[in-house]
Amino acid sequence: MRRSLLLAPLAAALVFTGCSKATTAAAAAPKGPVMPAGVTAVSIAMGDSIFNATGAPCQRCHGQKGVGGQNGPSLVAGPWLHSTGKYEEIVATITIGVPRTALKDQTRRFPMNPRGGPMNLTDDQVKAVAAYVYSISRARQ
Ligand code: HEC
Repeated sequence: MRRSLLLAPLAAALVFTGCSKATTAAAAAPKGPVMPAGVTAVSIAMGDSIFNATGAPCQRCHGQKGVGGQNGPSLVAGPWLHSTGKYEEIVATITIGVPRTALKDQTRRFPMNPRGGPMNLTDDQVKAVAAYVYSISRARQ
């Protein structure tokens, strides 16, 4: 909401002055409800490639597109286990990981390592992959 209030006059001004970049930026923005700051078409796409890359840890445990796998819960359905699903909380979960003692399902074989384990994701990569998780899961309760 805040973003659209801020951007509307700006976009109008740019269109008015004939700047074609404004139209391009608007077309690339995700459709539907306004996303939290940090969740953009670009960050979602970057997160998608980190999450779903062949052999990448995220998809090995959570399944391709986060639908759930043997060693990780679904990220697209079911109740949130470690937060209320806010973007900043997802960033925190991925940064910190889920230590064994915090697992909701104690029969799981592995905990979740911080920052994708061996991937050792940078802050920007964590934010991008969190944006992707948010985008596939924001309909969850
Ligand atoms: C070794 C397997 C494994 C890997 C690799 C892994 N996860 Fe997880 N993930 C888990 C487990 C297990 C949980 C917690 C399940 C539980 O508490 O029972 C979890 C929880 C989560 C949650 C919290 C879900 C909720 O409902 O609150 C998010 C978000 C998440 N993972 C994202 C990721 C992302 C993004 C990556 C890659 C950077 C990743 N995971 C890599 C196993 C994994």
